[in-house]
Amino acid sequence: MKQYKIAVVGATGVVGQMMRKVLEEKRLPVSEYVFFASKKSAGKKIIFMNKEYEVRELKEDSFDEKFDFALFSAGGETSKKYSPIASKSGCIVIDNSSAFRMEKDVPLVVPEVNIEDAKNNNGIIANPNCSTIQAVVALKPLDDKYKIKRIVYSTYQAVSGAGKYGINDLQNGIKHFEKNDKYQLEKFKYEIFNNCLPQIDVFLDNGYTKEEEKMINETKKILHRPDLKITATAVRVPVMNSHSESINVEFEKSFEEKELIQTLKNSKGVIVQEDITHEIYPIATKATGTDEVYVGRIRRDYSLDNGLNMWVVADNLRKGAASNAIQIMEYLMEQ
Ligand code: A2P
Repeated sequence: MKQYKIAVVGATGVVGQMMRKVLEEKRLPVSEYVFFASKKSAGKKIIFMNKEYEVRELKEDSFDEKFDFALFSAGGETSKKYSPIASKSGCIVIDNSSAFRMEKDVPLVVPEVNIEDAKNNNGIIANPNCSTIQAVVALKPLDDKYKIKRIVYSTYQAVSGAGKYGINDLQNGIKHFEKNDKYQLEKFKYEIFNNCLPQIDVFLDNGYTKEEEKMINETKKILHRPDLKITATAVRVPVMNSHSESINVEFEKSFEEKELIQTLKNSKGVIVQEDITHEIYPIATKATGTDEVYVGRIRRDYSLDNGLNMWVVADNLRKGAASNAIQIMEYLMEQ
C-alpha cells in the first residue's frame, strides 16, 4: 500500500492541535509527518504518536522536499501565500481558511455531501467554514428529498472557533468574574463571558458579518443550489467548544414529520437526538470529542406551508475543521 508524506501547516494552533489528535486516532498509511508553524514556534518540540517532532518554520522552500498532502490551518494570509507554492510542488492542499473557498476551480467539500467534487481539484481543496459544515450535513438529505426553498440560520458558536485568544478570553472571564476585577481581552471586542456577541468576524458593507456571508455563500456552493434563499445571524456564545445552530427551513415539497426524521436517521454522519418526553436533544458538551452531527428539536414550523425547525450541534474543531479535512484526505488516499 502506498505510504504518504503529509505536512500540517499551523500545527501549533487550536485546529492544528486537533488535526494532530485526529491523525493520531486514524493511523493512516503515512510514511512521514512534518509540522509547520510560524517563526515563533520553530524548534518547539511536540509529541506525536509517542515520537518527538520539532516544529519547523514555514518558508517558501518548505515544499521543495515534496509532500503528497498538506493540511493548512494557519489563517487566510498564510494560505494565500503558501498554498499555491505547495500545490505547484505537486502536493494536494486541503485548506481550512476562507482564502479559496469561493473560487470557481476550488472544490469546497463536506464528505457526506459532495465528496465527488474533491476529484475535480487543481491542487487545492477548501474545507468549509465550521458552522456551514454541520448545517449542510443535516440539510443535504432533506434537500434531496423535499427540495429546500429557503433557510434561516441562527448560530450559537463556541469560542474555540476563534482560536487560542478566543479561548483565553472566556477562561479569563471565568477566572476574574468572582473577583470582579478587570482583565485584558485578547480576541473579542467585548467580554464573551456572561455575554452573547452578535458579531463573528468583521462587518461587511451590507450589515452582515463575514461569518454570516460565509454560511450563505458556502451552503449554496456545497449543495450545488445557487438559487437557494438563505439568511443568517451568527452569534458567539460563552461555550468552550461545539457550535449549536437553530435552522429554520422552508421546503418546496410537503413532508411528514416521522418520515423526515427517519430520513435524517438514515443519513451518513447524522445522529438524531429527538426524545422530548425525556428532555433529550443535542447539546454542545455531548457533541464535543466526536465527529458526528447531532440533530434534534425537529418540529414543524406552523407559520409556513412546508416549514421545519431543527437544532443542529457538532464539534466545530473536529467535524467543523480537522476531521472534515482529514476525511477529505482519506477519500483521496483511497482513490
Ligand atoms: P504559531 O503558533 O507559531 O503562531 P490559532 O488559529 O489557534 O491562533 O493558530 C494559528 C496557527 O497558524 C498557529 O499554528 C500559528 O503558528 C500558525 N501561523 C500563523 N501565522 C503563520 C505564518 N506566517 N506561517 C506559518 N504558520 C503560521
